[in-house]
Amino acid sequence: MSIVVTGATGHLGRLVVESLLDRGVDPAEVVATGRSVERLADLGERGVRVERLDFDDVPQDVPWLAAGDVVLLVSGSEVGRRVDQHAAVIGLAQRAGAARIVYTSAPAADDTALVLAPEHAATERVIRESGVPFTFLRNGWYTENYLPTFEQAAATGVVAGSAGDGRIASAPRADYAEAAAVVLAEPGHENAVYELSGDVAWSFDELAEAFAAALGREVAYQRLTSEQHRDVLLGAGLDEGTAGFVVALDQNAAEGLLAVTTGDLARLVGRPTVPMPQTVSSWSR
Ligand SMILES: NC(=O)c1ccc[n+]([C@@H]2O[C@H](COP(=O)([O-])OP(=O)(O)OC[C@H]3O[C@@H](n4cnc5c(N)ncnc54)[C@H](OP(=O)(O)O)[C@@H]3O)[C@@H](O)[C@H]2O)c1
Repeated sequence: MSIVVTGATGHLGRLVVESLLDRGVDPAEVVATGRSVERLADLGERGVRVERLDFDDVPQDVPWLAAGDVVLLVSGSEVGRRVDQHAAVIGLAQRAGAARIVYTSAPAADDTALVLAPEHAATERVIRESGVPFTFLRNGWYTENYLPTFEQAAATGVVAGSAGDGRIASAPRADYAEAAAVVLAEPGHENAVYELSGDVAWSFDELAEAFAAALGREVAYQRLTSEQHRDVLLGAGLDEGTAGFVVALDQNAAEGLLAVTTGDLARLVGRPTVPMPQTVSSWSR
């Protein structure tokens, strides 16, 4: 049985491959796929099978995906095009007789107002309809999403946003990757849906505090209205669509949609998740 990882050129996919190897999975049983296989050459040198897979050009069948294999479908990054792209990979896995598709989804994907949920909910439906057993990893927020905010705070002393008193139950990508490696390598996760998050939901005041500690300077959280936030983002050069998306996500955070903590992530990895301040402290220079 092989474990096929899509998006292995990305941050999360690479961490999953590393985590599988750390857990003692035979590199010869891991297939790392991506659009730019040259970026996976180092994994190839470690014995991992490296194969090209472009979601926009998925073949009818491939020699490296066979009956009984498990496929990790890391959700793509081309927002608005992902359902068709994901469906192409799901079709490939279905035709090959894959034993299971593990999909990185979004919190409460089928029952949330989260702006980015509809593509994930649609993908979950395609997987269910394929008849291939599945595991849904409904990943909460990555702490690393706030790395650009940290850079801004380093320059300005301000964390500006319109999330109000909303809280974020984030965890670092490596924690989500470890959970993915666990469900890929272990039996017993058939048709399971995990709501993954950090153990602690933090506020933006606490984020500013963590930044201040890491930077050794004062950092304050500036509460903006959605209108003010949008204007700041447009002023910083974002286009209308991206600015609207960022403001909508902050609105979702204000509504508490990213604050839910279920303990699923800690249970899967068998330890507490890495707290936000610890990840932030690793960014200090
Ligand atoms: N939970 C969160 O906080 C959060 C935040 C951001 C994103 N996400 C989601 O989680 C996913 C993984 O996160 P990440 O940080 O690892 O993102 P990332 O570094 O941008 O990786 C995305 C991966 O998807 C691949 N991909 C995109 N379009 C593709 C296509 N047409 N064919 C084949 N591969 C394609 C990329 O390939 P290339 O290297 O060739 O571009 C890359 O390997 C993202 O794609 C997104 O869906 C979640």
